[in-house]
Amino acid sequence: MKLLVTGGAGFIGGNFAHMMVNSHPEDETVVLDALTYAGNLETLSPIMDRPNFRFVKGDITDRDFIDDLFAKEHFDIVVNFAAESHVDRSIEDPGIFLKTNILGVQTLMDACRKYGIQRYHQVSTDEVYGDLPLDRPDLLFHEDTPIHTSSPYSASKASADLLVNAYHRTFGLPVTISRCSNNYGPYHFPEKLIPLVISRALADESIPVYGEGANVRDWLYVTDHCSAIDLIIRNGRDGEVYNIGGHNEVSNLEVVKTILRVLNKPESLIHFVKDRPGHDLRYAMDPTKIETELGWKPEYRFESGIRKTIEWYLSNRDWWEHIVSGEYQNYYAKMYKDRQ
Ligand code: NAD
Ligand code: DAU
Repeated sequence: MKLLVTGGAGFIGGNFAHMMVNSHPEDETVVLDALTYAGNLETLSPIMDRPNFRFVKGDITDRDFIDDLFAKEHFDIVVNFAAESHVDRSIEDPGIFLKTNILGVQTLMDACRKYGIQRYHQVSTDEVYGDLPLDRPDLLFHEDTPIHTSSPYSASKASADLLVNAYHRTFGLPVTISRCSNNYGPYHFPEKLIPLVISRALADESIPVYGEGANVRDWLYVTDHCSAIDLIIRNGRDGEVYNIGGHNEVSNLEVVKTILRVLNKPESLIHFVKDRPGHDLRYAMDPTKIETELGWKPEYRFESGIRKTIEWYLSNRDWWEHIVSGEYQNYYAKMYKDRQ
């Protein structure tokens, strides 16, 4: 089987490409990535020379390029991770989110229709469901929870999901959608909470916590997300949505304190800063469908996953020190200057 993994030089796509190359040597994995600020070829260096792997640089919104690529390659399965993924950036500049996350999906699906594929898989997010109240732990997101988005990022991801369903119903395109909760683990870009806290704590820099740090996320170790997608593309039912999550709800403040504790750094590094506009309160997934239908089970709880993640950042300093010493400095100064 030949797989196209778009956005495979990013965090989750990169981990997924590693998993495909290592656990499915019979398949050929092609990563397509535009190498935006979030894409990093160093993430792929452990698999770059493997015989069942190839990297192609390109943009999912570039129609001519995508058409040529599909005409040449004859992919069996397309897994689309490519996206603008950071909520805070979508608040600063929504335009690129609409272009990549919606029009990019249309471009890919048009090529899938034209050249024929066995499955188009859209990697979506729990954020399409909006948020849940903090004082109702009994409430979870189910696959039929109404779409109700808060940020330009989540609105763009929800729009893509609607378009994927429309291509399935109108054109009969074979599709699946997965909606996962917050991921963490190796190769996570340090604009996101967990790698940002690890990298700043190691440099004894202040840790910005939005609002009171009470918002809750449902954290899943990245390889557990990847194993779920692997099951869906092989055994998932055509036209279905699958929620992915491991019941690991933790408040932001608790996440930060846990990292500081493991790194033996003082809590005095914590600085409460201005809240994110439209900040979702709580995400919590019900993964019963993927567990019962496909037999998926996560391997890690938050306590073990966060230790493994911290160990990875400690032994792979080169990977993230390159990032935080470059253009990232300007990004941080710009994004956080008005939050103090
Ligand atoms: P990321 O920002 O780390 O990686 C995105 C990748 O897409 C980068 O390598 C980037 O270069 C590439 N890309 C961006 N625009 C492109 C374009 N026009 N053409 C080709 N490549 C392009 O993101 P991530 O955290 O790995 O997220 C991957 C996917 O998973 C996204 O679709 C995101 O919405 C979804 N998701 C993320 C999480 C999470 O916690 N990070 C949770 C659920 C779902
Ligand atoms: O839920 C899945 C989503 O998780 C994905 O779809 C997104 O692509 C991914 O970025 C992530 O979105 P979040 O907004 O939840 O992740 P982020 O790491 O940006 O923030 C996590 C929480 O931490 C959130 O409540 C905001 C807060 N936060 C974040 C940053 C960057 C802080 O308090 N301080 C910070 O500096």
